[in-house]
Amino acid sequence: MTDARRLPDDFLWGTSTAAHQIEGNNTNSDWWFFEHQENPYVKEPSGDACDSYHRWPEDMDLLAELGFTDYRFSIEWARIEPAPGEFSNAAIAHYRRMVEGALARGLRPMVTLHHFTTPRWFLERGGWAAAGSDELFARYLTAAEPVYATDVAHVCTINEPNMVASMATAYESVISGRPLPTTGLPAPDRATTDALIRAHHRATETVKSLAPHVKAGWSVANLVCRALPGAEDVAAAYRRPRVDVFLEAARGDDWLGVQSYTRTLIGPDGPLPVPEDAERTLTGWEYYPDALGYALRHSAATAPGVPLIVTENGLATADDARRIDYTAGALEALADAMDDGIDVRGYYHWSALDNYEWGRYAPTFGLIAVDRETFVRTPKPSAAWLGEAGRTRVLPTTA
Ligand code: FCB
Repeated sequence: MTDARRLPDDFLWGTSTAAHQIEGNNTNSDWWFFEHQENPYVKEPSGDACDSYHRWPEDMDLLAELGFTDYRFSIEWARIEPAPGEFSNAAIAHYRRMVEGALARGLRPMVTLHHFTTPRWFLERGGWAAAGSDELFARYLTAAEPVYATDVAHVCTINEPNMVASMATAYESVISGRPLPTTGLPAPDRATTDALIRAHHRATETVKSLAPHVKAGWSVANLVCRALPGAEDVAAAYRRPRVDVFLEAARGDDWLGVQSYTRTLIGPDGPLPVPEDAERTLTGWEYYPDALGYALRHSAATAPGVPLIVTENGLATADDARRIDYTAGALEALADAMDDGIDVRGYYHWSALDNYEWGRYAPTFGLIAVDRETFVRTPKPSAAWLGEAGRTRVLPTTA
């Protein structure tokens, strides 16, 4: 890439986090419960995480100083509604302070209403698949209205509903002892899929009736499925329940969140393991920056006319130079997609901080390192490299 590519002035330029992964001691959530069960997916519990429940001002100070203009974070249902129908005014006030704290520092907040975790009581009554889950979600959002009712432009209803539906299958396999396929993502649970789509539509209506200015959308994990020659139909059939039904459910929304990390190769018999000679990241995923371009193009084709926002993109690595290289490649693919007329409105890097990666701390996705004992934050070179574009409005490159 030779010519500098300018970002549109109103392009969202931020980082993403999720409450459970950074706050610490989210003891009333379903995930905290999973972390303390026999569970093959969990190596260690989340514990104090990054202590961001207390240290969020420091996190936001750093992000603003680095140059970012936007911050996507989630609010925690398990704290806001610790028991069915019992709401915590203190938790609601806490998240409202975060919204105001972001704005005061020049960070426009994007608020995610559900990022993988629910209250434990919600799990105990059957999770998303149980009747009435959409109504309970809407009740929580109604109570949480003071958090997002003013000065919040973007609300993400549900993060990666497709992963939530696959996790429901995985959880069922832990309980029943039924084995899961060794490659690829478990098939999403059908009842959970339907419930999440219902919950998203209901949440969108609820949020917009309470705060009409809010632009609502959801973020889908865009598993980039690359078919080997002759396996196109197999790839399409694999992708449909895992991705496409969730993208289709975003038709007519204000925006659609694109989350992309890697690709899955699909052969005639289905998903294949990562090729032996491929570079792998700390999650074991293939290092594949071009995934973002495919994800954007596929999202635009499946939900035509809906503006796209990259709400997550990044990689887990101990080598920060690889993070810069990967991100530069992904941003180049993003710029190419925009040049081809794809309507992309923003980019949020996953993640602001090294955090709890759903079962373990080893995969470090952060632009900012966090000492696991003292919680001291140390920005990595990639943080300054990426943040600077918030000031210059010029897409960063490695050159
Ligand atoms: C996504 C999740 C996010 C994080 C990244 C690596 O699936 O939304 O919380 O775990 O992957």
